[in-house]
Amino acid sequence: MLRFVENLLATLRGLFRRRRGPRRLPAARDFQMPSWAEAGKERRKHVQRVAALLAEWADEMDVGERERDRWLKAACLHDALRDARLAAGVTHGAAAADRAAQDGETDRGVLDAIRYHSVGHAGWDDVGKMLYLADALEPGRKRARKRRARLAEQVPRERDGVLRKVVAHEIRRRLRAGRPVHPQTIEFWNSLLDG
Ligand SMILES: [Fe+2]
Repeated sequence: MLRFVENLLATLRGLFRRRRGPRRLPAARDFQMPSWAEAGKERRKHVQRVAALLAEWADEMDVGERERDRWLKAACLHDALRDARLAAGVTHGAAAADRAAQDGETDRGVLDAIRYHSVGHAGWDDVGKMLYLADALEPGRKRARKRRARLAEQVPRERDGVLRKVVAHEIRRRLRAGRPVHPQTIEFWNSLLDG
């Protein structure tokens, strides 16, 4: 039922978008979290929305099947241990990346995307950048819905520009709240300006 609703929403969103080619709905396997996932119901819905958004972008950006699979794999793994009890100092991203590597995942780009998805990473390839964007812009988050929807729509045409806006927004938000900014987030920001 949930999958049906997700697919329906994705189709409706597609009606309001310009597209270059025929639309391909995400396959059921696109939304599979690993058997070892420790994630509650709401978390799983979030992961489905992240994967659905990445599938849409992959179609609109005409990326190949292999790259699309990398994006969706990262989506399904990134919050797999978000609700698990972890040792002090271990982030849920690092824990999920380590577990995925134990399971045989060898794609460095996918593993780094999962490991650093909460803070950003200067060495990311496309999968890390796309996951970061989808995690921030998926439509289920309550804050600034309209602004985020507008940015999500721009991603296929202006990926790097939207990424700079999203990272800058996150840094500003933390500064205003008097919260620390992770050094890797600063490095990530700087790497986006270098390119
Ligand atoms: Fe997430």
